[in-house]
Amino acid sequence: QRANLVDSFNREHTYLRISITERCNLRCQYCMPLEGVDLTSSPELLTTKEILQLAGIFARQGVNKIRLTGGEPLINKDIVYLVEKLKDIDGIKTVALTTNGVTLARHLPGLINAGLDNVNISLDTLVPEKFEFIGRRPAATLSKVLKGIRAAIDSPLQSVKLNTVIMKGVNEDELCDFVALTTEDRISVRFLEFMPFSGNAWSQRKFIPYQAQIEIIEKHFGRLQRDDDERSSTSMNYSVDGHVGSIGFISSMSRNFCGGCNRLRLTHDGNLKVCLFGKDEVSLRDILRDEGSASLSTKKEEELVSVIGAAVRRKNFSHGGYYGIEEIKREMKRPMI
Ligand code: GTP
Ligand code: 5AD
Ligand code: SF4
Repeated sequence: QRANLVDSFNREHTYLRISITERCNLRCQYCMPLEGVDLTSSPELLTTKEILQLAGIFARQGVNKIRLTGGEPLINKDIVYLVEKLKDIDGIKTVALTTNGVTLARHLPGLINAGLDNVNISLDTLVPEKFEFIGRRPAATLSKVLKGIRAAIDSPLQSVKLNTVIMKGVNEDELCDFVALTTEDRISVRFLEFMPFSGNAWSQRKFIPYQAQIEIIEKHFGRLQRDDDERSSTSMNYSVDGHVGSIGFISSMSRNFCGGCNRLRLTHDGNLKVCLFGKDEVSLRDILRDEGSASLSTKKEEELVSVIGAAVRRKNFSHGGYYGIEEIKREMKRPMI
C-alpha cells in the first residue's frame, strides 16, 4: 500500500496537512484580504467524521504525521476531539498544529490531554502597534499570543516553533529580537521568506531573501552555527552559540526544498492538493459522499485510494519559486494552508 503515495520522483508522502477551517480571527496582510475570505457554504465543508475517515485512509497508505492548519484551526469547535481521534488512528505517530496562537493558552491543556505532539505558532512582530498593522486586529491581541507561546514552552509538548514572515520595511528590524527569544527557551524561531499569491500584498520591494536575513543576524550575534536538518525539513536550521533554542530559514522563494517534500494537503472543503503552489486539486469529498451512504465501504476506499495515488503520481517536481513568480501569482487561488 505504501507505494501508492510515492510520486514519480520517488518522494514518499508520509505527512498530511489538513486545513480544518478557512476562517481566521486575524487578517494578516500577507494572507487574507481585510474583508476575509469568501466563506464556503457549510454543506461543502468536510464534517469532522469525514476528516477522520479520510485521515484513516491516508494512514493506511503510509501517512504517519498529521498537521492541523487553517485558517486558524483553533476556531474549529471539534479541535480537541479531532486531535484525540487522529491520535487513535493506527499508524499516526504525530499530530501537530499550526496556529496564530491567539487562543492557544486557553486550548492547550485540552489539546495536550488529547495527545497533541507539537505546535508551530505564527508571529511576525513583538511590537503591539505593528501586530495591529500586520494582523489588522487590536494591538492588545499580541499579549494573548505571547501567553500562548509561554504556555507551550512550559508544557510537555515535544517541540515549539515560531513562524515569522519577514517583510522589508515591516519587520526586518526585529530579526535580532526574535533570535533573542532563543537565548533561554527551547523554541525554534523560523524566518519565512515572504511568498506571493493572488490577493496578498506581495511586492519585490518587501522581499528579503534568507541570505540577507542571515547577514543581519550575524552582524549582531556573530557567526551562526549550522545544525542538521531532517531530509523533509522546510527550514535550514542554525543556532547561536550558547542559546538553548535554535533558528531556521524557510526559503520557499530563493531556494526551494521540493526534493525532500513529503507532504500532501487536504483542504477544508475536501480537496486533495499534492503541492502548496500547484493548482491541481481533486475532490475526495465527492467520492466519499457518493451513494449517500455514511459508512466507508471497501469499494469506496479502493476508489479513493486509486484517485489519491493518481494525483500523487501527477505531482510536479517543484513550483517556480522566485523565478516562477508570475505563474504563482496567477495560479494560487487560495490563501496558504
Ligand atoms: P514541521 O512539521 O515543524 O516541519 O512544520 P512545517 O514547516 O511543515 O509546517 P508549518 O505549518 O509550520 O509551515 C511553515 C512554512 O513551511 C509554511 O509557511 C510554508 O512556507 C512552508 N511549507 C509548509 N508546507 C509546505 C509545502 O508543502 N511546500 C512549500 N513550498 N512550503 C511549505
Ligand atoms: N508568505 C510566507 N509565509 C506565509 N504564511 C502565510 N502566508 C504567507 C506568505 N504569503 C505562513 C504563516 C504560517 C504558515 C503556515 O504560513 O505565517 O505560519
Ligand atoms: Fe513540495 Fe510542492 Fe511544496 Fe515544493 S512546493 S515543497 S513540491 S509541495
